[in-house]
Amino acid sequence: MNLEGKTAIVTGSSSGIGAEFSKALVSKGCRVYGLARRAGRLEELRETLGDLFVPTALDITDYDELEDWNQKQFGNSAKSHQNEASGPDILINNAGLGYFGDVDKMEPDKWDTLIQTNLTAIFRLTRLVVPMMKQKNTVSHIVNISSVAGLIGNPGLTAYNATKFGLRGFSEALMKELRNERVKVTCIYPGSIATEFFDDIGGTHANMMRSEDVANTLIHILETPDNFLIDEITLRPLVPKAPGK
Ligand SMILES: NC(=O)c1ccc[n+]([C@@H]2O[C@H](COP(=O)([O-])OP(=O)(O)OC[C@H]3O[C@@H](n4cnc5c(N)ncnc54)[C@H](OP(=O)(O)O)[C@@H]3O)[C@@H](O)[C@H]2O)c1
Repeated sequence: MNLEGKTAIVTGSSSGIGAEFSKALVSKGCRVYGLARRAGRLEELRETLGDLFVPTALDITDYDELEDWNQKQFGNSAKSHQNEASGPDILINNAGLGYFGDVDKMEPDKWDTLIQTNLTAIFRLTRLVVPMMKQKNTVSHIVNISSVAGLIGNPGLTAYNATKFGLRGFSEALMKELRNERVKVTCIYPGSIATEFFDDIGGTHANMMRSEDVANTLIHILETPDNFLIDEITLRPLVPKAPGK
């Protein structure tokens, strides 16, 4: 896909890899609707990136608000063939949270929040965007940000693992559902990246991946030729622990 002039939605664009994805897409000439709750952080990004970045302060687990925003922004493009170029070409389902702890210590409301944020909100937004993508006569692309925790279970990660494994299944099914509709679906499984994700939970190390390198990989995946699909990719730091640790 040639990214110049395309329209993208990036969830979780107020920090971390979502902010880097937004920067990289804007630098390629994409209009980016950046969704997240922290309006101030989104506005700071708009000041840096300019008006191709459209700050969109909302909580993706407020499904009514999500539907209202989609209707206001793209409502006509879902119905009118004349407006088909105006719907999103790219959806990056990136927003996510991590709550960790043994299963008997995990508060049920935290489990619910993780499922709603990391899984249900992705379904809710994707189901709004897919009809507009199917209607286009050009290639579209949905990218889901899972984790190596979507491939490997570990103690203390039951809730997070459940959401990221769930996203893996969602992505594979969606890819098979949409590939003949000219909609690419890619699931990315990153290992540890230096972002605010670990601020409250710890577990960082010296050699975490950099967000800008993850964003470069996203751009590579999006810019592949139309009849070439990278459906899954795992990203890892080369030396995750210093020698002797
Ligand atoms: N960092 C890693 O090592 C790593 C590894 C593998 C996968 N991942 C995944 O990568 C994704 C991005 O994480 P990150 O590392 O960049 O961490 P981050 O800096 O904490 O970013 C998380 C983003 O999600 C947004 N978000 C969370 N809940 C939201 C909600 N209810 N509504 C709207 N936005 C919401 C946050 O924005 P607001 O707080 O402003 O709403 C923030 O922009 C997550 O899905 C995470 O699971 C991260």
